[in-house]
Amino acid sequence: MRVFIELSGEHPTLPRAEALAAMASERVEVRGATFGPHLLRLDVVGPVQRAAHRLGLAHVVCEELVSGDLDTIRAFASSQELGGRTFRVRARGLDVDLDPQAVEGPLGADLGKTGHVDLDAPQIDYRVLLGDEFVLGRVLHRVDRSRLEATKVANRPFSLPISLHPKFARALVNLARVPMAGTVLDPFCGTGGVLLEAAELGLRGVGFDRERGMVRGTRTSLRSSADAPDLAIADAGQLPLRPGSVHGIATDPPYGRAASTRGEAIDRLYARAFQAFAELLPRGGHLAIVLPSEKWIERGSKSLEFVEAHALRVHRSLVRHFCVFVRP
Ligand SMILES: C[S@@+](CC[C@H](N)C(=O)[O-])C[C@H]1O[C@@H](n2cnc3c(N)ncnc32)[C@H](O)[C@@H]1O
Repeated sequence: MRVFIELSGEHPTLPRAEALAAMASERVEVRGATFGPHLLRLDVVGPVQRAAHRLGLAHVVCEELVSGDLDTIRAFASSQELGGRTFRVRARGLDVDLDPQAVEGPLGADLGKTGHVDLDAPQIDYRVLLGDEFVLGRVLHRVDRSRLEATKVANRPFSLPISLHPKFARALVNLARVPMAGTVLDPFCGTGGVLLEAAELGLRGVGFDRERGMVRGTRTSLRSSADAPDLAIADAGQLPLRPGSVHGIATDPPYGRAASTRGEAIDRLYARAFQAFAELLPRGGHLAIVLPSEKWIERGSKSLEFVEAHALRVHRSLVRHFCVFVRP
């Protein structure tokens, strides 16, 4: 199947990396990929719909039906036999100054020969992207971005300014490539934002924090989750878990300033934690971790194999590096 994913464009590489990691998590085989800053087109085999439901940094995921100039798209639309089913056509320009309605109208007329327009709840939701070429697709999934905004940290029962925005917490979970119904660990769980997203994706969560208040607060925030995670007070360098007992790790450790380390130097904490993670992960298991500087990538590479990094500038003195490592 060919699919296209309209990326959120909030970062030049992270949305694409999230989408590819979500495919890998669901064992979707990607046979080919082309991309621009806002669009990722993939040739895939496997449960792509399940992977689509994981995404946070995307808008719409479609099965690609045809691409080319307007005549090609219209010829395809005219050849469709909808058998009276309802449909909708929505067009969107990708960095081009084209009027969407000039495309929606003629396509609607072509498809209307055998189907009926329903703008609110159609059986078939067509989407046309207008760029260098036109791409027509059928919507498989729309990312619920308002849900990701509604669970913004400040709206949760327990919140502190240290938390990642839910959409970036979700991307972090996806980067850890945990398979369906697998277990994801956050050993620096703080207010529980990463575990909340893991629960939304149907993953089993395990969380630790050295501070009792954090563990209590996270428990309150996650009480309403269908599958509440296992939480306990523990040091990230000495976790009470058997090796191989989690499928992946997604975590946002202290950066050495606002978040507490109880006076421990950050390089010592990271060295201990990387070592513990390497001993805990199964072979092929991934660590997705937010680091405050690129220099820690080298330290992580002493314990695990480096896969990718995406720098996200938060403000003048904070750049979050979303990094992925794998246990070889
Ligand atoms: C940046 S915050 C995590 C933010 C989290 N992503 C959230 O959504 O709230 C880092 C957390 O690590 C905890 N921490 C610091 N040192 C630790 C250690 N050695 N072991 C476990 N947790 C630790 C702190 O108490 C803090 O809650």
